This record gives sequence, C-alpha cells and structure tokens, in this order.
Amino acid sequence: MIVSNRCMSPPAASPWIRPYRRPSRRDGNTGTEAVGVIDAIGPDVDGLRVGQRVSSAGAFGVWAESFIARAAALVPVPDEVSDETAAQWISMPFSALSLVDSLGAEEGEWIVQNAANGAVGRLVVPFAAARGVRVLSLVRRSAAVEELAAAGITDVVATDSADWRERAAEIIGGGTVRAAVDSVGGQAAGDLISLLSDSGTLVVFGSMGEPNLSLPTGDVIFRQLTVRGFWGSRVSRDMDAATRNRLMGELVTRISSGEVTLPVEEIFPAAEIADAVRANARAGREGKVLLRF
Ligand SMILES: NC(=O)c1ccc[n+]([C@@H]2O[C@H](COP(=O)([O-])OP(=O)(O)OC[C@H]3O[C@@H](n4cnc5c(N)ncnc54)[C@H](OP(=O)(O)O)[C@@H]3O)[C@@H](O)[C@H]2O)c1
Repeated sequence: MIVSNRCMSPPAASPWIRPYRRPSRRDGNTGTEAVGVIDAIGPDVDGLRVGQRVSSAGAFGVWAESFIARAAALVPVPDEVSDETAAQWISMPFSALSLVDSLGAEEGEWIVQNAANGAVGRLVVPFAAARGVRVLSLVRRSAAVEELAAAGITDVVATDSADWRERAAEIIGGGTVRAAVDSVGGQAAGDLISLLSDSGTLVVFGSMGEPNLSLPTGDVIFRQLTVRGFWGSRVSRDMDAATRNRLMGELVTRISSGEVTLPVEEIFPAAEIADAVRANARAGREGKVLLRF
C-alpha cells in the first residue's frame, strides 16, 4: 500500500528511551505513527480502497510525505475521527489501553499509578473505569490534584504533602490493590510497592525520574510481589489478532463517542518541523504537537 501522509506527530521520545530505540534506517526512514490517504493498493488486499483514510499501526518509516506499508499495518479511520486524533491514537492510547487490559485487575479492585497527570495516566483512568477497576493516582505536585479534578479525575493524591500515605490508605479503604504502574523509577517505584496488596504486580512502564528502581527487597520476597516490564510496541507486536481487534474496537468506540479525548497542543506545517520539535520539548505542554502535510 502507498499512503499519502496527512498528519503526524514529531519524534517525542523521553530521553530514557533513546538507547533502546530502533535506529533510523540508512535510507533515513523513521517513524511509526501517522494518518494518511491510500494512494495505491498492492495485489491480494481486501477491505481497503484507494482514497480511504488510514492510520499506521506498526508500519515503519511513516514520517515522510508518503510511505509504504503492509495492509495489516494500517487501520481504517472512521469519518467521525479527526486527522488530529487518528495521528496519535495508536501508540500511546493503545499502549495505555493494552496496559490496563494486561493488569489482571478485576471489578472492584484497585490499581495505583504515578505520574498520573501525564497523557498516559489520564487515559488509564477511563480505561480502568470501563472495567469497574478503581484507580488511585499519585502526582508529585498538589496543584496537579486540581488539574485532574478539572478533567473529572478523582482519587488523586499529591506526594509532596507529608501525609500522602495516610490519604492514599484512606482512599483505598482496605481494598485489594492488584497492580501498580510506575512511570517514574527510583524511590517512587518503592512507594508504589508499599501500596500494593500481597501477590500484587509492579509494572515498570516509564522512567521520568530515575533510571533505576529502589525497591524494598523484603516486601518483594515476603509478600510475593511480581515486578515486570511493559513496552507497548512489543506487547502490540506479540498480541494475538483477537485481542488486538477487541482492544482496537474498544479504542475506536471510546474515542468516536468522545468518552476519551486526545488533546492537541499545536499543529505545524510539515516544513516547520524544527519549530514543532522545539514545541514538543516544551515543559507544561497539554497535548500533542502535530505536523500537517
Ligand atoms: N512502556 C510503554 O509502552 C510506554 C508507552 C508510552 C509512554 N511511556 C512512558 O510513560 C511515561 C509517561 O508518559 P506520558 O506520555 O504520560 O508523559 P507526559 O504526558 O509527558 O507526562 C509526564 C508526567 O510525568 C511526571 N513527571 C515527570 N518527571 C517526574 C518525576 N521526576 N517524578 C514524578 N513525576 C514526574 C509529570 O509531572 P509534572 O506535571 O509534575 O511535571 C507528568 O505528569 C514516560 O516515561 C513515557 O516515556 C511508556
């Protein structure tokens, strides 16, 4: 398939990802996420047509005016989903949804997460709520509690207050905390462990603070905790087709209905990519920076 690019997000990797990132190929191709229109179709492809809007889901080299992708690496975009949403709905939102789905938390149980006012943290809450799973969200600044409240997200505790542990325990109220999602590292991961129920799982998702984890070995051993990593691209690649279709269907439904929104900070013409990358790195950004062809 040849796809003419309409909208994409500039490279945005957190610094900790860079050593693990797939390098650009020698031909300069890079990028995995964009939305465009099919220009040409190869042989033996069913269900897609020239002129159809699609987003890439696993194709590589899509940060270009046009790109080549296998049909299986393209997802049709419904009319009610904008280019701005379709340019960012696979990697991060699909990762957040796959993450929640993989945690094994049952209705009425809890999960806890830190860096909860980030883009991923804000998505984890509605995806968990749709499964009847409660979420305790940790943020590092008291002001972020209000920011999340404005977005309708409650059960948020700021770790900059001296009594945050008591407040967290009060909210959980003796419930079962099945899993904790750490996006910070260092002591923050240990703090999550202290909130986990016995036999719970700490999922290492990001590393916004420190590259190493500080975990109390006694808790891990005696409370039989599990520590595992989660890398969305890998999970998505290894996912069976039935699970992928179920989760993709859920994502499309929740986004199309407006239940889940993907904010955009600013849109630049593709020729202004340097400005877009600078805007992308700006602190306090409240949505994705996008490039439009
Ligand atoms: N494993 C995967 O598959 C996968 C997929 C997508 C993203 N990620 C990772 O997940 C993490 C979050 O991504 P995102 O898109 O939500 O990021 P984001 O929107 O940029 O938000 C970052 C969040 O981290 C908080 N933060 C930054 N440094 C911190 C620190 N030292 N201690 C505590 N909180 C800190 C920020 O809080 P303030 O508002 O207070 O600054 C903000 O809430 C990143 O590390 C990202 O690379 C992993």
